[in-house]
Amino acid sequence: MDSQNELTGKVAIVTGGGDGIGRGIVRVLAGRGADVVIADVNEKAAGEVIAEVQSMGRQGLVVGTDVADQNECDGMVSSALSLFGRVDILICNAGVAGGPEWWTRETASELDWDAVFAVNVRGTMHSIEAVEGYMMDRGEGKIVVIASIAARGGGAGPMAHYRASKGAELNVAQAFAMRLAPYNINVNTICPGLLWTNMWDQIARKHMSDSGDEDQSPRERFENGLGAVPLGREQTPEDIGVVAAFLCSDRARNITGQAINVDGGMRMN
Ligand SMILES: NC(=O)c1ccc[n+]([C@@H]2O[C@H](COP(=O)([O-])OP(=O)(O)OC[C@H]3O[C@@H](n4cnc5c(N)ncnc54)[C@H](O)[C@@H]3O)[C@@H](O)[C@H]2O)c1
Repeated sequence: MDSQNELTGKVAIVTGGGDGIGRGIVRVLAGRGADVVIADVNEKAAGEVIAEVQSMGRQGLVVGTDVADQNECDGMVSSALSLFGRVDILICNAGVAGGPEWWTRETASELDWDAVFAVNVRGTMHSIEAVEGYMMDRGEGKIVVIASIAARGGGAGPMAHYRASKGAELNVAQAFAMRLAPYNINVNTICPGLLWTNMWDQIARKHMSDSGDEDQSPRERFENGLGAVPLGREQTPEDIGVVAAFLCSDRARNITGQAINVDGGMRMN
């Protein structure tokens, strides 16, 4: 089948699909024929992306969801099933880099550690737990977790809480890949590199205010990091979307438990 239409008839849930990487993933999945449910705390932003999905001739639904809450994740899946009668794909993309205090010194506060783990780690687990029973009964399903090259280790600075959460997220994905393989459910991870999104804007502002180095704009600060990219360019949400679409297609039916870096070569393991 033509890869451009390979998701026709499929229904995808994308957590955090209202902005940034999630929005790029929604655009690519809808462009390949999928109907899309966006589960996001920001319902307004999600509604704007769903309007785009509809303008592409696909159907869409917004479900206001905080993935840190298991009941809300259960509601996300039951709303999708009520409207569409099926869920083929779950993309666990919702994530945060800081909590109520962000990081202020060499390390983040306990509040920030808890907030980041609640969304990035438990949110991923809750989202998969909400859909796995349905997919197991059906004997098929595709799940993609958006972690980060931060999951691959290394790196200095005060973001240990974020790195640790992303490493944990990758391990959660692999645990579910093993658990769900007998049910013909593929679970894979994408590790994005450097993408200019709201998250990166917040990170750049935080680093700059902490260091007192506010001569540059947040975008310039982000561009400094691109020197570490062997291919010499930033990645885009659509770059992540096309890999997610591939992993959700039949062409990837024998790939599970893997993590793919989409980072211009920054990490080669
Ligand atoms: N931007 C990067 O360079 C980069 C690199 C590697 C990995 N990532 C990962 O990609 C994912 C998306 O990041 P982004 O840069 O697009 O961020 P973003 O802040 O631009 O967008 C995140 C989206 O998730 C939603 N969200 C936040 N908390 C939520 C919650 N509790 N429940 C439901 N929705 C929630 C937000 O409303 C927003 O729509 C994250 O998991 C992030 O860790 C980003």
